[in-house]
Amino acid sequence: MNTPSLLILAGDGIGPEVMSEVKRIITWYGKNRDMEFNVSEDLVGGAAYDEHGTPLTDATMAKAQEVDAVLLGAVGGPAYDDLDFSVKPERGLLRLRKEMDLYSNLRPAQCFDALADFSSLKKDIVAGLDIMIVRELTSGSYFGEPRGIFDLPNGEREGINTQRYTTSEIRRVARSAFELARKRDNKVCSMEKANVMESGILWREEVTWVHENEYPDVELSHMYADNGAMQLVRWPKQFDVIVTDNLFGDILSDCAAMLTGSLGMLPSASLGLPMENGRPKAMYEPVHGSAPDITGQGKANPIACILSFAMALRYSFNDGDEATRLEEAVEKVLADGARTPDLLGEEGGTPITTVAMGDAILAALDASL
Ligand code: IPM
Ligand code: MG
Repeated sequence: MNTPSLLILAGDGIGPEVMSEVKRIITWYGKNRDMEFNVSEDLVGGAAYDEHGTPLTDATMAKAQEVDAVLLGAVGGPAYDDLDFSVKPERGLLRLRKEMDLYSNLRPAQCFDALADFSSLKKDIVAGLDIMIVRELTSGSYFGEPRGIFDLPNGEREGINTQRYTTSEIRRVARSAFELARKRDNKVCSMEKANVMESGILWREEVTWVHENEYPDVELSHMYADNGAMQLVRWPKQFDVIVTDNLFGDILSDCAAMLTGSLGMLPSASLGLPMENGRPKAMYEPVHGSAPDITGQGKANPIACILSFAMALRYSFNDGDEATRLEEAVEKVLADGARTPDLLGEEGGTPITTVAMGDAILAALDASL
C-alpha cells in the first residue's frame, strides 16, 4: 500500500501550537513503528482569510478531498468577529465537513481517572465515564434551505434557518452509531424533539427502522434532547452511544465534554463514505476551539489534538493497537501528574507548558516500546 497521506490544517489561535506536538508524535510513529505518513500542510480559517481573503481556498479543498485524512487544529478568533458571515473562519470548517460529506461525527467523552476530581460534577458520577456521541454533521439546521435574513413588508426583518433531514441522511448516521455500539456496550440512545418537531418524528421513525431491520441485537432507546441534556448531568453513565442531529449534537457534546473536566482533553473524528482505497473520508479535530485568550503563551493543552490523531490511527489507518498505545501514553502522563494550566484543580500545583506535555507523552511512548 502507498504511504498514507495526511493534510494538516492547523488554523488559528492555539491550533498551530497544539498541532506542533501532534507533528512530533507523527514523526515518532515514523521512526519507531515503521508508520510513515506523507504530511502536507495548508491554511484554514482566519489564517487562510489573512492570506487569501477566504477561510478555505478551492485548492485546499481539493487537497482535503485527495488525502487519506485531514488533521485540523482550530478556527476563529476575535480579529475575525466583524467579517462578513460568508468569509468567517467557521465557514472554512463547515465547507470541509459539507463537501467531504463527513456525516458521522464521533465525539467521545471519557473521564480519565487522574482527572475525575476535576469535573464540576461529583467524582462518583463521572469516574470511569466513557460515552460516545455520534453527531450528524452535514445536514439539519446548519445547512438546511431556506436560510438567511430577510426584510419583511412591515419593515421588520426575519432570520430563517431550516431543520431538514431526509430518510437516507438519518439512516446512514444511525448505522454508524449502531456499528460503534456493537464494539462497545451495545446500547444506542437516540435524541431528538419528536414532541414538537416533524423532523424529530422522522428521525425517531428512521432510527427505529434501521434498528429493526439491521441491528435488532443492539439495545435502542429514545429520549427528547432536552431530557437528554438533563440526564447527561444527572447520571451520564446510563449512556453508551448517543446519536443525534447536527444542532442538538453540537450542544449535547459540549455538555458531555465538560463532564470530563476539561475541554482540552477531547478529540473528535468526522467520517464519511469509504474512498476507493477503502478508507473513509475523514477529518480529525479537537473539540476545543482556538482559545485566543491563551494563544502563544505555551499554556494550551495538546492532548485533545493528540488524541484526535489516535482516533485517526484507529478509524483511518485501522490500527487500534497503535491508537491504544498513544491513548495509554496520555493516561500515563496524566497519572504521573503532568498538568497544563487547564488541568490544575483547586489544589493548584505547577503547570507545564504545551511543549513539555508533548515531551512527556513522547517519553511515555518511548517507554511503551
Ligand atoms: C463544533 C463547533 C463548530 C460547530 C463551530 C466552530 C462552527 O462548535 O465543532 O462543535 O458549531 O459545529
Ligand atoms: Mg460546538
